[in-house]
Parts: sequence; structure tokens; C-alpha cells
Amino acid sequence: MQMSHRISGFQCSPIRRLVPYAREAKKRGIHVYHLNIGQPDIKTPAEALAALSSFPDDIIAYGSSEGRDDLRQAWAEYYNRFGVGITSDDILITTGGSEAIQFSFMTLCDPGDEIIIPEPYYTNVASFANIAMVTLVPVTSTMDECFVLPDIGEFEKRITPRTRGVLLCSPNNPTGHVYSPEELTALLEMCRRHDIFLIVDEVYREFCYDGKTFISVLAYPEYADRVICIDSFSKRFSMCGARIGALITRNKEVRDSALKLSQARLCPPEVEQYVACAAFRAPATYLEDVKKEYEKRRDFFVARLKKIPDIRVSEPLGAFYLVVEFPVDDAEKFAIFMLKDFSHDGSTTMFAPAEDFYVTKGIGRKQARLAYVLNTGDLAAAADCLEAGLAAYRKKYMS
Ligand SMILES: Cc1ncc(COP(=O)(O)O)c(C=O)c1O
Repeated sequence: MQMSHRISGFQCSPIRRLVPYAREAKKRGIHVYHLNIGQPDIKTPAEALAALSSFPDDIIAYGSSEGRDDLRQAWAEYYNRFGVGITSDDILITTGGSEAIQFSFMTLCDPGDEIIIPEPYYTNVASFANIAMVTLVPVTSTMDECFVLPDIGEFEKRITPRTRGVLLCSPNNPTGHVYSPEELTALLEMCRRHDIFLIVDEVYREFCYDGKTFISVLAYPEYADRVICIDSFSKRFSMCGARIGALITRNKEVRDSALKLSQARLCPPEVEQYVACAAFRAPATYLEDVKKEYEKRRDFFVARLKKIPDIRVSEPLGAFYLVVEFPVDDAEKFAIFMLKDFSHDGSTTMFAPAEDFYVTKGIGRKQARLAYVLNTGDLAAAADCLEAGLAAYRKKYMS
């Protein structure tokens, strides 16, 4: 049977496409350290877990398309706690931040329109763009320059009559870069000059290190009509499987237009929204402790990786990812070798090859994204596997 031409252009996610190799390795009795996916090992707040068994209704019915009122109210209060004036009307609850990105593209863009994006970028955005038939136009940020925002002139050069906006992710997946207020305002100004939108994916907002305070794009009300913020419960409260996210904007036309998509898919998960509401009641220490834990892991893991001969490591300022450049011909080939042909003390390490985190082919071929979502003991063992595996791979294929 013939599949659509469209689907043949979609990628298999580099975060997940090597899973069959990992499954086979596990069948052979090998332990796999999963650094390929941003699945935290942190416990979901107790308040949320308790709410799982206290859902009050005896029918799990369709809810409203924009999301539960109590959750939208609690979400607005969360913003108000750090000085961002958002009302529940500004919040459209979505099935994960993923759906919020898709809704943004579908709402702002016609087929063939363009979104400018710094690369490397969160790879699944490629598929969201394909769904909306949007072209991603990359501006390359480099490891040499710690993945800072490229010059605004580089963005301006890429603006065409089809450009509808810029998508920024801060703190960034995969680089860990946190864009400074100066970088953000320069982009906002540029968007105003060219009358385009700025979508900022802030799902890692809480994880910003070295004593720095994260500034949300929503803290700039003077640009309110051209700003969309993507938010999510997945990482903040370690609730990836609950699929609760949000599209947040003060632009009523954007919200009302996106609501048509919300209505077509009926409603976001109802029980999970009830549970998410309870997560907001977790004490402030929950998020403080989670952030401390990731910062400790970042410090440990970056220092350990730097001891591996000939690899380059990015310096993440936030989120829980980093980019490494391996001294290999192809990071994907190396990743498959790690799962298929290698083990060290009965274990191996899985990571996400980074080539498909770029629109521009070739740049990321030697790079990988590593997620430091395991405790430091496991990260140490995962790094030992990487170091031994790299030596074995180079001996086999590169000497
Ligand atoms: C930058 C970024 N945005 C959005 C998402 C999607 O998150 P979810 O759909 O689980 O909210 C992820 C998931 O890893 C991500 O890393």
C-alpha cells in the first residue's frame, strides 16, 4: 500500500529511533544508561500522585477545549508569583508543549511559510513543521561560541515575505544555553521591526543555574501582541507522561484562532489536568531541590566528560542537556556500535546523535545530545562506558 509523500519526508526521531538496538541489548542482559531522552528520574510531587486517587467525578468526561478553569487559574497564579501578569484567559491548555508548538505553527503559518530557528534545535520541531507544512530556516549557533544567539543581522538576512516568526528555546534543548535579556530584547525588537511573531519555548524555565534568574518572554508586555510562550508540566514536575502543556499569549486573535484546533481535538487529558492542578500545590522547596539536583549533575557530568580524551563538551547554563562532539566519523554509527557491539562491566550508554538537531546537514554529524537525567552515580558509570566505548570504536574503525 502507498503511504503519503508527506509522511515519507518525516524523520524518525533521533531521540527514539535507536530504541530497537537498546531493546536487543537489554535482551542480551546488558544494562543501558539512557542519556538519549529527557526523561527525569525525579519523583513527581507527592501532591500530584495523591490526586491520582481523588478524582472526584464518576465519569471521566470531555472537558472544555481550552482546558480546566481551575488549572488555568492556578497556572496564572504561578506566573504572577514571579511577577508576570498573566490571566487564565491568556492560557490555552494543550496536550503537552508539543501540541502547543504545533498549534502555534498552524495558527500563524500557511503552507510554505517560514519560521526562523537557531540550530541546533529541539529535533521534534522538524516534524511539527512538517505537519504544518512550514519551512524551518536555520541560523547556526556554534559550540565555539558556546551556542550564544547568532548576530541579529544573521536573522534579518533570512527574513523573506514568507517569514512568520522566530522560534527560540530557552533554556535550550539541546545546548543548555540560556538566552540573556539582551539577546531576548534584541530578537523582540527585530520581530517588531519586521512585524513577525516570536515564539519562545520555555519548558525548562525552572532549570537555570549559576544563581541566574530566568526572564520569561512574557515579562515584556510591550511586545505582547507578537509573543507566544510554550510551557509544559513534563519536565518541571517530572510529569512527562501526563501530557499537560500550554500555549500562552496575550494576543486574543492568536488564542481564539488556536482554539479552533483545540475544539477539533475536543479537550486535553482531563484526569491529568486535575493532577497537574495538585502539582502546583507542591511546596516551593520541590522545585528548588530539583534545580539543585540538576545543577549538581551538570557540574559533575561536564567535569567528568571533559576528562575523556579528544571530546568537546558544551557548557550548559540551564535545562538538562549538553552537546558533545566526539572524535569519530559519525556519531550515529558510534551510537549504534555502543548498543550493538559494545558493553563495559555489563553496561552501555545510549545517547541521541545530533545531526538531526540541525536543519543544515553535516554540521552535527560528530555531535550528540546527552541528557543528564540520571543520578551522579549512574552518570559516572555512563561516562565510564562512553570513554571505554569511544576507545574501542576508534580502535575498530579509525586506526
Ligand atoms: C524544548 C522542548 N519543547 C517541548 C517539548 C515537548 O514536551 P511535552 O510535549 O512533553 O510537554 C520538549 C520535550 O522534550 C522539549 O525538550
